[in-house]
Amino acid sequence: MENNQWWKKSVVYQIYPRSFNDSNQDGVGDLQGIIEKLDYLKLLGVDVLWLSPVYDSPNDDNGYDIRNYQEIMQEFGTMEDFNLLLDQVHQRGMKLVMDLVVNHTSDEHYWFMESKKSKESPYRDYYFWRKGKDGREPNNWGSVFGGSAWKYDEITDEYYLHIFSKKQPDLNWENPKLRQEVYQMMRFWLDKGIDGFRMDVINFISKEPGLPEGEIHDGQTYGDGSRYFMNGPRIHEFLQEINERVLSDYPVMTVGEMPGASPKDATQYTDPNRNEVNMIFTFEHMDLDSAPGGKWNLKPLNLVDLKENLAKWQTALHKKGWNSLYWNNHDQPRIVSRFGNDQEYRVESAKMLAACLHFMQGTPYIYQGEEIGMTNVKFESLEDYRDIETLNMYEERKALGYAHDEIMQSIYVKGRDNARTPVQWDDSEHGGFTSGIPWIKVNPRYKEINVTAALEDPNSIFYFYQKLISLRKEMDIIVEGDFQLLLEDHPSIFAYERNWKDESLLVFCNFGDKTIVMEDEDLLNRFPEYEIILANYDEADPKELRSYEAIVLKGK
Ligand code: NOJ
Repeated sequence: MENNQWWKKSVVYQIYPRSFNDSNQDGVGDLQGIIEKLDYLKLLGVDVLWLSPVYDSPNDDNGYDIRNYQEIMQEFGTMEDFNLLLDQVHQRGMKLVMDLVVNHTSDEHYWFMESKKSKESPYRDYYFWRKGKDGREPNNWGSVFGGSAWKYDEITDEYYLHIFSKKQPDLNWENPKLRQEVYQMMRFWLDKGIDGFRMDVINFISKEPGLPEGEIHDGQTYGDGSRYFMNGPRIHEFLQEINERVLSDYPVMTVGEMPGASPKDATQYTDPNRNEVNMIFTFEHMDLDSAPGGKWNLKPLNLVDLKENLAKWQTALHKKGWNSLYWNNHDQPRIVSRFGNDQEYRVESAKMLAACLHFMQGTPYIYQGEEIGMTNVKFESLEDYRDIETLNMYEERKALGYAHDEIMQSIYVKGRDNARTPVQWDDSEHGGFTSGIPWIKVNPRYKEINVTAALEDPNSIFYFYQKLISLRKEMDIIVEGDFQLLLEDHPSIFAYERNWKDESLLVFCNFGDKTIVMEDEDLLNRFPEYEIILANYDEADPKELRSYEAIVLKGK
């Protein structure tokens, strides 16, 4: 492994600052709050912290709508706080990665405010402004957050494109001046010494010229423009330019969030010889529990699909590119509630899921609270929800005639606020997140599930994650080894083998609550002698896997 590929050995921890820790009791997490918890993160053993956006923003989409890229959001603190945070992270031997949101800005960004004023504005072409077509929007694309992807503006009698909310106008990367401004901004942060970027929907920045009409799928009102705005014609060129003009001067890591990217796309995006990004976030495994029509249409997960999918990515990128490994982030429901069992087997299933992911090849990401097994939340009233995606969807489905209970069920299972309730630090009011009124309610399970309780219990999920992280540092096979899926068709066992040089590992995970007797003798015969290096139950025996049991064997 080359020295500049330090991220191959790292484990990243994602912080959603708004919900992490509130130091000034205004109900919103902040940078000083993060500083207070750095020793906790160091104890967990993670190497890299990724901060969701901390820039000045009107918070239509919690910071993913940036008003000023070079200022800190007031609620989160000041630039001095940021400088201190960066320094404190570095002092502890960790690294800090920032969110880079450059597919769109806020509609309150200076560029947009200027571009809106007239067709002659020097900023006009920084965005996609188009005339209406036959008294309607310029094309039929729908926005990811509901409704049309276009908003009409009276001042110039034109529409602007917004793939996300109407307060998130899309930037036009065809414009070289805009690209130049983005590169300068990136340098501003890199020159401070940050260690990389997580690049928000970065494969959306190149759009098919002409913005063709999208296909209208069954039951949909708007056209699906995704094939024209995802992985567009100039995407590789733009990513390479970002590297050439900016990133190549710094020893940093990049992870591109890329919905709609296939393993084949990913081998290009992450091929080290192409200088695009180090790794990407894929969505395929997160889409397996959705029926046609999108994430709100619920479908139970079929484990065989999950195994097939993850195995496909593992093999496709081996020695070609690099994977990121994740179950959770601020956009996804909590994994223990999703693919595990957040009741009777919460602890066992959270550990099993962690083991299943962390023994694969790639860079693992842990999302705040995952390390203590935080669960989804069910607020009774819609008023307790905050997420624009959820609230827009509710209105849209209500208008289409869906029953309230059915919509709420989708929100309980898939809503992004599941991930955004405050981190549960202890069993005091609001889980110790704030003594003010939190911006979103704490999960009522905080009395049982919290950091203090986890740290006191040597068998907690926290210490299991700590062990996984330290094993990755000790065992190069976890970083370098190949991947082979075993028992492909088994409905509840996820088993795989890793091999590297003369070493091998065998990972068994039971995704169900029934005990499974391992009948396939051959599997264990391949390992006539082995040592159990990790298990989530005492006295583990790989011949019999109990509910949500995980066992990892090292061949001797
Ligand atoms: C992806 C981010 O993760 C999500 O939270 C956000 O809403 C969209 N991109 C738009 O920036």
